[in-house]
Amino acid sequence: MNHKNANQSAATGQKRSRNDAGNKVTVVLGAQWGDEGKGKVVDLLATEADFVCRCQGGNNAGHTVVVDGKEYDFHLLPSGIINPKSVSLIGNGVVIHLPGLFEEGDKNEKKGLKGWEKRLIVSDRAHLVFDFHQVVDGLQETERQAQEGKNIGTTKKGIGPAYSSKASRTGLRVCDLLGDFKDFSARFKNLVRQYQSMYPSLTVDVEDQLKKLKEYSERLRPMVRDGVYYMYEALHGPPKKILVEGANAALLDIDFGTYPFVTSSNCTVGGACTGLGIPPLNIGDVFGVAKAYTTRVGIGAFPTEQLNAVGELLQTRGHEVGVTTGRKRRCGWLDLVIVRYAHMINGFTAIALTKLDILDVLDEIKVGVAYKLNGKRIPHFPANMDVLQKVEVEYETFPGWKTDTSAARKWNDLPAKAQNYIRFIENHIGVPIKWVGVGKSRECMIQMF
Ligand code: GDP
Ligand code: IMO
Ligand code: MG
Repeated sequence: MNHKNANQSAATGQKRSRNDAGNKVTVVLGAQWGDEGKGKVVDLLATEADFVCRCQGGNNAGHTVVVDGKEYDFHLLPSGIINPKSVSLIGNGVVIHLPGLFEEGDKNEKKGLKGWEKRLIVSDRAHLVFDFHQVVDGLQETERQAQEGKNIGTTKKGIGPAYSSKASRTGLRVCDLLGDFKDFSARFKNLVRQYQSMYPSLTVDVEDQLKKLKEYSERLRPMVRDGVYYMYEALHGPPKKILVEGANAALLDIDFGTYPFVTSSNCTVGGACTGLGIPPLNIGDVFGVAKAYTTRVGIGAFPTEQLNAVGELLQTRGHEVGVTTGRKRRCGWLDLVIVRYAHMINGFTAIALTKLDILDVLDEIKVGVAYKLNGKRIPHFPANMDVLQKVEVEYETFPGWKTDTSAARKWNDLPAKAQNYIRFIENHIGVPIKWVGVGKSRECMIQMF
């Protein structure tokens, strides 16, 4: 390509300079091990958004939104689907289990979510999760348990196997399903055979699966677009508010998380670019969501975990139960080492600190501020899980405010000790805190600036 062409807009042929890059996208990302309250933050921002997009993950995510006393949980659908004025987009980086998608939509429709199918756009490049991927997810967990004495504690939604199919170039995409069905069927059969050769106990009723997939494909067809071109037009048309809803979280990222106890996608900021076809130049605000303490579902190192009365209190007061699997979440003190690490990768422009209200009853509150190895502080976050298991956490201790904060709606409504806790976190991460959550519902969010 010569220089002149490189400067031309792909769609219109118009010249475009780097200063005229188009609309900026706001990205919301989990800064811990998931379940930070991303759904709630996205819902808050979605009331003014034109587009709300998912860029990675699948229905391993579970995002809760509480509006007018009604609680919705979203897994594959972007949380912005609640807003009748915004379009929801499932990008190419997402892996889609079609039965799960329609089940989720139908369930929420019964709760009052109207017209979601008309507001949903699905990228033709997104990969499909099949029922057998979910079965294989379970088989792999059993195998891990048998071979290594421990598993990952996946959601068994087929996420790892589906991304493996994608990476090994045998996966099937939405565009394949909507294309020549004979060709799709042949490739589906090959994929099944490939998995059966790895897992001889795997039985798949291929004809029944293909029949169901054909039915789903017709329901899906009206929603499918070329995701890249759709996003390009959204970025370069009239001013638009575009929101990206991250799923899972930094410490579950396949590259940066606590590997191998991670998910199989990039849950950090790069995932927004690769999962939607957004140039880095179009990334605007990157909001990190962090709980005022730490939780984790599944297996893996967790340096500030509290296997004691504090952990139990956080679990029960915080209703810390997984939205997708119903498992109890492990709980511990806020770990600022991991939030700072998430910031190194994502470059947060602001933080939403959620669930401050859960700490209301504590006499004292601790915050992990550094890790030590053999008595010496380490400046980085260890890659090796054996090392992470061994770190000693250095804590700062704060007096509890012992006051109900759930009715606070502005900064001045918060007790001085809570303000002190928040300011410490802000200074330690080096990123402004823009919101503080004090309850489940949309209005329980203090906006700081
Ligand atoms: P996500 O996966 O990051 O969207 O988070 P989840 O929905 O899995 O988990 C967060 C849980 O905390 C949900 O039950 C939310 O309703 C709840 N929640 C979010 N923010 C707050 C808050 O500020 N205070 C309280 N008490 N609950 C909150
Ligand atoms: P949201 O978007 C919490 C965890 C699982 C498991 C590991 C791998 O609601 O924050 P997977 O099924 O992805 O292969 O499981 O990742 N995990 C999550 N934990 N919140 C999530 O999503 C999660 N998504 C995956 O528990 O330990
Ligand atoms: Mg969740």
